[in-house]
Amino acid sequence: MVGVIGGSGVYDIEGVVIKEVKKISTPYGEPSDSYRIGEIDGREIAFLPRHGSPHHIAPHRVNYRANIMGFKEMGVERIISVNAVGGISPEMVPGTVVVPDQIIDMTGGRESTFYEVEDVVHIDFTEPYCPELREAIISAGEKAGITLRQKATYMCVNGPRLETAAEIKAFSLLGTDIVGMTGMPEASLARELSICFAGIAVVTNYAAGISKEKLTARDVIEKMAESTRKLNRLLKEIVRGIPHNRNCICKDALKNARM
Ligand code: HPA
Repeated sequence: MVGVIGGSGVYDIEGVVIKEVKKISTPYGEPSDSYRIGEIDGREIAFLPRHGSPHHIAPHRVNYRANIMGFKEMGVERIISVNAVGGISPEMVPGTVVVPDQIIDMTGGRESTFYEVEDVVHIDFTEPYCPELREAIISAGEKAGITLRQKATYMCVNGPRLETAAEIKAFSLLGTDIVGMTGMPEASLARELSICFAGIAVVTNYAAGISKEKLTARDVIEKMAESTRKLNRLLKEIVRGIPHNRNCICKDALKNARM
């Protein structure tokens, strides 16, 4: 089963018939919403809107552990996560769809591990996204004729406020291309459970100070809505093309990771 996490403005996958709605409780609490189970060409998918539906959970309040554990409990081995982001580097203009390859995590105060008591685990996170799943996204983009940027460093901030112009300048000097509030700890939590994880980021606005215009949450939602049809086509193509067996680093994430 393939998991899909929808970000701001993505609350379903159009054209996918929901055959079951599963409410799951986990030892870490309640996920953001029920999981919508559907099928694309005979492959089951489980969709979860990260902010709930309707949108009511702020990025710093999302129960990332429950969301990822819920997928694990349903037998999900791969998660594709959709995020709205601000564009920092010049090529990241609003409307760009990008498959990030690196992360800098500036979040704080979020429950960010499953291994807190007794079990001491340090997963390797050199490559934060599953290379095989990233490849599946990139080839799906080529097949569906959707232009994707194939690399970006994602800066994850805590929010919920947007950034200052000086912060964005500093993030740019650090080599980041996009900024968002939800990429972490999703990615590392998935790795901790040996689940393959990759992101699709949609640039919804220029990051603070890059354009003269004031940033608004409405712009984020509107720009995301404009990309919805493209995203839906992309997601369907990805699910069709994902290899049946996993040949990546993620499935062995816990090998030699325990102290
Ligand atoms: N900053 C942080 N998160 C975001 C942005 C932004 O500019 N746009 C969409 N999510």
